[in-house]
Amino acid sequence: MTDSRQAIGTRAVHAGEAIDDQSALTQARALEPPLVLSSAYNLGTAEQAAAAFRGENELYIYGRWRNPSVEALERKLADLESAEAAVATASGMAAVTGALLSSLRAGDHVVAPWSCYGETSRLLREHLPKFGIETTFVDGSQVEAYAAALQANTRLLYAETPSNPVLKICDLEGLAVLAHRQGAQLVCDNTFATPIHQRPIELGADIVLHSMTKALGGHGDAIGGVICGTRSRVHEASELVVKGFGGVLAPFNAFLIARGVRTLSLRQRAASASALELAHWLGRHPAVSHVHYPGLESHPGHPVAARQMEGFGALLSFELRSGLEAGKRVLESVELIEHAVSLGDVRSLITHPASTTASTMPADTRRRADISDGLLRLSVGIEAIEDLRQDLAQALSSCER
Ligand SMILES: Cc1ncc(COP(=O)(O)O)c(C=O)c1O
Repeated sequence: MTDSRQAIGTRAVHAGEAIDDQSALTQARALEPPLVLSSAYNLGTAEQAAAAFRGENELYIYGRWRNPSVEALERKLADLESAEAAVATASGMAAVTGALLSSLRAGDHVVAPWSCYGETSRLLREHLPKFGIETTFVDGSQVEAYAAALQANTRLLYAETPSNPVLKICDLEGLAVLAHRQGAQLVCDNTFATPIHQRPIELGADIVLHSMTKALGGHGDAIGGVICGTRSRVHEASELVVKGFGGVLAPFNAFLIARGVRTLSLRQRAASASALELAHWLGRHPAVSHVHYPGLESHPGHPVAARQMEGFGALLSFELRSGLEAGKRVLESVELIEHAVSLGDVRSLITHPASTTASTMPADTRRRADISDGLLRLSVGIEAIEDLRQDLAQALSSCER
């Protein structure tokens, strides 16, 4: 509340913004949910504040704990992933870390695929052992390989399907049965598929996580992550990664990502149709020795992918006959397609994993993850297919030089 006797500097801070003046924000019935940027909230009476801290009322207290704009996005993701609840995180890696650390303690064991995002692999190989958590890596496309790696202390099976960057497919139903028989949890990174193409909780997974930086946001302008699961598991993850470690999603990023999610289905279906067509076309190109795309019948994971996915996603990778130097020339020759990391963008993006996203993997780990020096990863955007094909054709002609 201000009055005209207060100094202009005081009124500049408070005028027009009294809590009671803000009722239009909630009563205006705006179609676009209001973006709430506040880092703190009015706590009412001293007793209401104390009750809020005891968890006895629904008052918002502080932006690292709860934010209405972030909560709107969390409800959207929980709905799309058929989960009871979701918690948004500052990045996809905060979601990976939160899902793992809130499920595990010192002395526990994880089974994970060789083929997964480079930083996830590094977290499991380098960081978690410092906290007494060991991982056995296996061929993620073989349920039997996970089964053979189980130990008495295995508490978590980790899946990333399709995997980054070679699109390996894990059999989620098979892994869920295996995990539950062992009393372990199945955690799945669903970033490549998105809930449009695959919903792991419906197939038995306990936790699904995403880098929302990718297709969910879709426009390359916001970093974020999300963990979806039962209310109690999401609460545990939220207490640890958001409240404890501080990996909170900024409300403005929640606003941008929610806006992206509204067109996710249209974007994914368009990009996925183009990816399938380009995968067939690249497979016939003389400069290309192999294409990795689960929509191709020649892909070893195709039968499982066809069973557990609806559409195969916007990512593919391919190997050049002439290796590293030719790969560099292709990256430098694309004109429409951008040479950049990240994926799931409306723009098509191309990258060379061995020297970029997977470069923190030791050479032997890279080999086991099937990341060859001649591998290029293409994230197909929503541009017209003829333009993408033409750009790839002219860029691949550089391999003949
Ligand atoms: C499959 C997958 N999971 C997780 C991440 C990490 O996401 P972020 O970059 O948002 O931390 C990435 C990033 O590329 C990814 O590709």
